[in-house]
Amino acid sequence: MPGVSIFKDVPLVPTDHVFHVNQQYKDDKNPNKVNLGIGAYRDDDGNPMVLSVVSRVEKQLAEEIAAKTLNHEYLSIDGLGSFTQAACKLCLGGDSPAIAENRVCGAQGISGTGSLRLGMEFLKRFHCSDVVYLSKPTWGNHRKMLLGTGYKAENIKEYRYFDSASKSLDFSGMCEDLKNAPENSIVLLHACAHNPTGVDPNQDQWKEIAEIMKRQNLFPLIDMAYQGFVTGDPDKDAWAARYFVSQGFEVLIAQSFAKNFGLYNERCGNLCVVTTDNETAEKIRSQLKAIIRPMWSNPPIMELVL
Ligand SMILES: Cc1ncc(COP(=O)(O)O)c(C=O)c1O
Repeated sequence: MPGVSIFKDVPLVPTDHVFHVNQQYKDDKNPNKVNLGIGAYRDDDGNPMVLSVVSRVEKQLAEEIAAKTLNHEYLSIDGLGSFTQAACKLCLGGDSPAIAENRVCGAQGISGTGSLRLGMEFLKRFHCSDVVYLSKPTWGNHRKMLLGTGYKAENIKEYRYFDSASKSLDFSGMCEDLKNAPENSIVLLHACAHNPTGVDPNQDQWKEIAEIMKRQNLFPLIDMAYQGFVTGDPDKDAWAARYFVSQGFEVLIAQSFAKNFGLYNERCGNLCVVTTDNETAEKIRSQLKAIIRPMWSNPPIMELVL
């Protein structure tokens, strides 16, 4: 029986900006409309596109289900091993010493957002610093995720990144802010195709950034949402992340396959953790599973064919 809701005083949250623009686009009857909101693959007629590799794998999956060689049983809490291993390999490279030395742990996340959130939840529990640095500007969800994870607003700091006058990287500002960051702070870096500016450091600049971070003991949390988008070559676009690993950093890398595979609604992602040794990697895996279990319990099945 409808009466007065116990939730009647719940405040209304304004619609998410990006999804609001998308809805406005859908509602707009103008035949010349162009959607500059959500960045998703479109064909020449503006319709959604499915990549041919994705269609091929989907057909293969349907055949395997029909043949009963594939089913819908639960996966492990940390996801499908063949998927997380392939994802870590795509991120770190097939010849990665860290993979060969068994000190990498992958856990399937719910696309890039879920993988980042998983990484943040882990850092909140186990990293010694409560201070996180974000680029100014950054993707709007980063701050919301950190707040949702329990980081205090006053501990979410910014490093200078974009110089709007020259429309380029404010490299000296970035370096200065990182040099002045409290020791052990966590620094969220965009692996490539920085959102929203599209501006990335070059290789020499990345080397200098890594050097400062090493000196200050800063921890890299890397958001890799657009691997392949800058050069068309996933190996080239992974250069910065791989450089940090080669310099001996422990890193958390949140990978999204929403963009590069056009799998937006499949929520396909991975958290790739590089640490110092296999025993630590397995302890981290156990903690990631402990975080996942009460959140989404276990992920949807994914097959990444590489
Ligand atoms: C910088 C950045 N990180 C992460 C994501 C996560 O996207 P998704 O959760 O759809 O994989 C996005 C999406 O727009 C992004 O721009």
